[in-house]
Amino acid sequence: MKLVIKNLCFFSKFLIISTVLLLPVYGCKSKSEGDTHSFHQNNIDDENFDDDSNEDIDNLEEDDDDSIEAFPDIEEQDILCQGYEPKPTVQVLPQAVIFGTRKGGTRALLEFLNMHSLIRRSKTEIHFYDKHFNKGIDWYISQMPFITEGQIGMEKTPGYFHTPSVPKRMFETKNDTKLLMIIRDPVKRMISDYNQFYYNNMKEGDTYPPIETFLFRKDGTINEHYPPLKRSIYHKHMAKWLEYFPLSQMYIVDGDKFIKEPWTEIEQVERFLELPMELGRDNFYFNQTKGFYCGKEIIENVNSKWTCTRNKCLSKSKGRKPPSVAADLLQQLYDFMEPHNQLFFNMINRSDIVWNRP
Ligand code: A3P
Repeated sequence: MKLVIKNLCFFSKFLIISTVLLLPVYGCKSKSEGDTHSFHQNNIDDENFDDDSNEDIDNLEEDDDDSIEAFPDIEEQDILCQGYEPKPTVQVLPQAVIFGTRKGGTRALLEFLNMHSLIRRSKTEIHFYDKHFNKGIDWYISQMPFITEGQIGMEKTPGYFHTPSVPKRMFETKNDTKLLMIIRDPVKRMISDYNQFYYNNMKEGDTYPPIETFLFRKDGTINEHYPPLKRSIYHKHMAKWLEYFPLSQMYIVDGDKFIKEPWTEIEQVERFLELPMELGRDNFYFNQTKGFYCGKEIIENVNSKWTCTRNKCLSKSKGRKPPSVAADLLQQLYDFMEPHNQLFFNMINRSDIVWNRP
């Protein structure tokens, strides 16, 4: 499906400017003459746009906000064009929030959703409800994206999910917030959570102990206090949310399915958010080098015979190579998680999510 952006600047100006300034961003081709006038077929596979929260379950770990890599918004580039007439915009409390899970695929979900013409997101993780609540609602609103009439604003802060004070605060601030969550196989998520610390330490030139050091006690039993493991015991955190918000106000994205077929889950989210169905299979392509899907935003200017696309891939910090964990230890972890997973599935009334052992 194609995204029609009205009120873009006239394409002639756009063409000149984009050729000069935006070469790494856009690829355009003629609509009427097939592909013959393709002039810039770039695959910007290393366009980066990710960001993450390191909000620890015990609040001991530092933030790791990589939103500097967030992809530029269309609007930021439109203003380069003469003839661009901005629409009135407002900042309001977010109508939808991605509240978890850390390392679940939150950045990919947010950025892919942001390709929808009626969704605008805040690039950074705001951490209002978990860390900056004392700054007040006006501060929160000032962090929100500017939206035009009909658009909805979103933010993602994965740390919300496992911070017990958040559901009550959110309920008391905006009890009709639509809640989006993306979950992965909890063992894989936990390893990814560990891996983030590993990579951050290596980046600083430090060493970092192997995951087994944190996860297993000397007697071979699992250390249930390891924060990445605690964050993967989904039902414990979800119970807090369900004290305030009904399940019908949440959509839980299957993050493992999302990796394989992002468009299927994105369509479900569009439905949940009651938005026109705009994004589909055509908005994604598989990047062999990265091993993940990237987004393809299709921009159709109604005043022009040209269609432009821009490709959006996450950076290297998303889709990292996981550390190897001995097969027997992995089985032990899956055994440990199984009853917790069952409790979670019952709680959210889902039987379609499958977390297969390796
Ligand atoms: P890994 O780096 O462990 O593979 P978050 O954005 O919440 O921090 O989640 C990061 C995870 O998003 C990555 O974890 C990766 O598996 C997942 N992901 C989902 N879709 C992705 C995509 N299209 N590109 C890159 N990573 C994606």
